[in-house]
Amino acid sequence: MDILAEANRLKAIGRPVISMAVGQPSDPAPTRVREAAARALADGRIGYTDALGAAALREAISEHYREHYSLDVPPTRIAVTTGSSAAFNLAFLAMFDAGDRVAIAAPGYPAYRNIMAALGIRVVEIELEGAAHLDARHLRAAHAETPLRGVLFASPANPTGAVIGAGELADLVGTAGELGIAVISDEIYHRLAYAAPDVSALAFDADVTVINSFSKYYCMTGWRIGWMVLPERLVRQVERIAQSLYISPPELSQLAAIEAFAATGELEAVKARYAANRRLLMQRLPELGFALAAPMDGAFYAFCDVSRLTNDSMKFARRLLAETSVAATPGRDFDPHAGHRFMRFSYAGSFADMQTALERIGSWLGRP
Ligand SMILES: Cc1ncc(COP(=O)(O)O)c(C=O)c1O
Repeated sequence: MDILAEANRLKAIGRPVISMAVGQPSDPAPTRVREAAARALADGRIGYTDALGAAALREAISEHYREHYSLDVPPTRIAVTTGSSAAFNLAFLAMFDAGDRVAIAAPGYPAYRNIMAALGIRVVEIELEGAAHLDARHLRAAHAETPLRGVLFASPANPTGAVIGAGELADLVGTAGELGIAVISDEIYHRLAYAAPDVSALAFDADVTVINSFSKYYCMTGWRIGWMVLPERLVRQVERIAQSLYISPPELSQLAAIEAFAATGELEAVKARYAANRRLLMQRLPELGFALAAPMDGAFYAFCDVSRLTNDSMKFARRLLAETSVAATPGRDFDPHAGHRFMRFSYAGSFADMQTALERIGSWLGRP
């Protein structure tokens, strides 16, 4: 937040800031999504929907599972949410009690830890220590120390971009099932994997909770719309909690989101640009001394070990911004223990911006 605020301040006084710090697409929502929203606005009335979301959108999401994953997920198990952020609140409230121990990977998306802490859930951070992602072995070891009630992981992950391969995902989900650990799979970066097709945790067990969103691949961060796939037994509980916390997800965004699944041509063009950015960063970052801490297999992030350049990534990020006008995210937020040695670079921006940012960093480090 501090880096973003400083980047905005510098931009406002005319500095040519390039942001590699934001975690969102730079493109607008697809044309047909915006057209559907315009039609809905012209029609006039935007109101509440069912707490679990509009039937037509739940149908469209169910169809997406059939088409994209060859999985049969009935609309009755789908809850539309106010972004995946609301889905975390709902999942944690429905699945866990205060005092329960729930494991996440470090580094990982900071909100997991913060929301759980706010709800009195005991967060067990599993330090990856060089591993690309959480695996069954990590889970067994943490559970053996003190039993876990749940585990939450993302693939592709923020901040690393790492993807859990199909075999390892099967192992992880199977091990959780065997140990009686509830699984939440954050699949928000699905459709943004570059090396392998998407595999949902649902392929291995219908009893997991999957969280997803229109924010990333579908370029709809500001529309605040996402979804979850729930085990049958959690649907009613989530419905009741959702009704009380949010009444319903925003209807305008729901009407628009139905169109998102038909916008593949436009969205694949955006993804092709990320892929070109990724190739550039994959080559240049290590040459500049930013060792990749995980393979850049998905999302739009490179997570780098910067210990050859600094021992304090926050200070480094401030200097980088002040001296080159390139904003990138220090690792501390993602990992309170080892984050000072890491930086996250987002490549969701334009190719030209990525080129310019890398040139500036190269000159700054004396490696043009
Ligand atoms: C891994 C991950 N999950 C969830 C979110 C939240 O997204 P939203 O609430 O916009 O769906 C983010 C946002 O950056 C994220 O990186």
